[in-house]
Amino acid sequence: MQAVLDYLKQHQARFVAELCDYLRFASVSAQPQHNKDLLACAQWLVKHCQNIGLDARLCATADHPIVIAKTPKAKAESGKRKAETKLKKPHFMVYGHYDVQPPEPLELWTTPPFEPRIAGRNLFARGSTDNKGQNFAHLKAVEAYLKTGTPLPCDLTFVLEGEEEVGSKNLSGFLKKHRRELACDAVVVSDTGMPAPKHPALTYALRGIIAFEITLHGPARDLHSGIFGGAVENPAMALAHLLAKVRDDNGRIKIPGFYDGVASLSKYERAQIKRYPLSDAGLKKLLGAPQLFGEKGFTATEQRSSRPTFEINGLTSGYQGEGSKTIVPSWARAKITCRLVPNQKPEHVRKIVCAWLKKICPPTVRMEISAGHGAEAYLVSPTSPPAQAALRALEKAFGTKPILMREGGSIPIVNEFKQVLGADTLLLGLGLPDDNAHSPNEKFNLDCFANGQRLSAFLWQELTR
Ligand code: BES
Ligand code: MN
Repeated sequence: MQAVLDYLKQHQARFVAELCDYLRFASVSAQPQHNKDLLACAQWLVKHCQNIGLDARLCATADHPIVIAKTPKAKAESGKRKAETKLKKPHFMVYGHYDVQPPEPLELWTTPPFEPRIAGRNLFARGSTDNKGQNFAHLKAVEAYLKTGTPLPCDLTFVLEGEEEVGSKNLSGFLKKHRRELACDAVVVSDTGMPAPKHPALTYALRGIIAFEITLHGPARDLHSGIFGGAVENPAMALAHLLAKVRDDNGRIKIPGFYDGVASLSKYERAQIKRYPLSDAGLKKLLGAPQLFGEKGFTATEQRSSRPTFEINGLTSGYQGEGSKTIVPSWARAKITCRLVPNQKPEHVRKIVCAWLKKICPPTVRMEISAGHGAEAYLVSPTSPPAQAALRALEKAFGTKPILMREGGSIPIVNEFKQVLGADTLLLGLGLPDDNAHSPNEKFNLDCFANGQRLSAFLWQELTR
């Protein structure tokens, strides 16, 4: 094991340079003009995995390919050894994604998003924390085992997909098709957060999500607002009016049934959440908001980890160019997502939300709702033997006691790991609150990168102890 740790220490500079190569691919899954970049990135990954000694292949899907890389199976050996190797080793899957969020707005980046830049202990680039840097840490740990000839106590399969940021549409069918090959004792995912470089965390809950778009249609075309304004509905005004009815002044969602089944936090959980080192004042400063706002009766950490939300992600209508244009727009649109917590069924929430919006929609506009992706929240026991093993590995790697967290983001596919493969997921995030995931100037902390590699190295030992 010491050889593995020494190897990691000795090769940090090269690892960072390689991560920069990985980050240069503009693998933006939401934008079709980047399809070629996703393919090139996946091909680069396959090559890289092969170079470090993994059996790797590219698996085409209807959209972006999936990279599968496995620790090599022992070669044909003498009779006795062969019989021994038939005793199956534990098998773990490491899941990550090589696709990234759109980098826009570009003008807010200090340097271009796909030209990695290092400043102090930070590496800036789109996808650095979400998720290339985090999954690369696991690849470097396995490289250290393979290159130092240190036996791994388990088999590993890496599944690196290119569609996480757009809903993992093809991975779910892939899991079903390859359920035997991918059957495993647990899945390990580093695609979440930790509170600070010295505060590692095990995340035991994620929020679920539903996405949809509302369009309100008014007049058949944009109209002169002087000639016709006042005599016809303005769809942008109608949409603003409608959306304003969704929540009250206390930040509570007013849609009947929205909170049905939402469990209140236990004393124990509230106490755990209190240990989270980011204070409300710290959060306010980090976010650059004039004030914090949220559902009354809950702390900021509680609100963003364990309460459901209704968010407008985008709002579009009328003239968006420079200067003024006097029109009544023909239509208005809102992109919406709701974050869900355990016990909320995505399709049920979608039904009641859409039905209520339709009910309160005035007859002066026609409402069209198009459904997007959906996923249940995730909750896993933080006291199971694998979770305890992960906590030990985190402590060894970072040198401090990890905390238990619930997080607000979503990783829809982890539900399918449970349903299709029967495997629980260990969420061992390496992202920091100020990493700017999904925002301009995304970064990854190089100490988190290095300690993440150590975490991965210790993890395989602890999981098989
Ligand atoms: N890594 C995030 C999810 C995440 C971030 C979980 C921080 C916990 C803490 C992931 O890449 C992501 O952004 N997921 C999307 C899912 C959506 C597109 C279905 C999300 O949460 O918005
Ligand atoms: Mn993301």
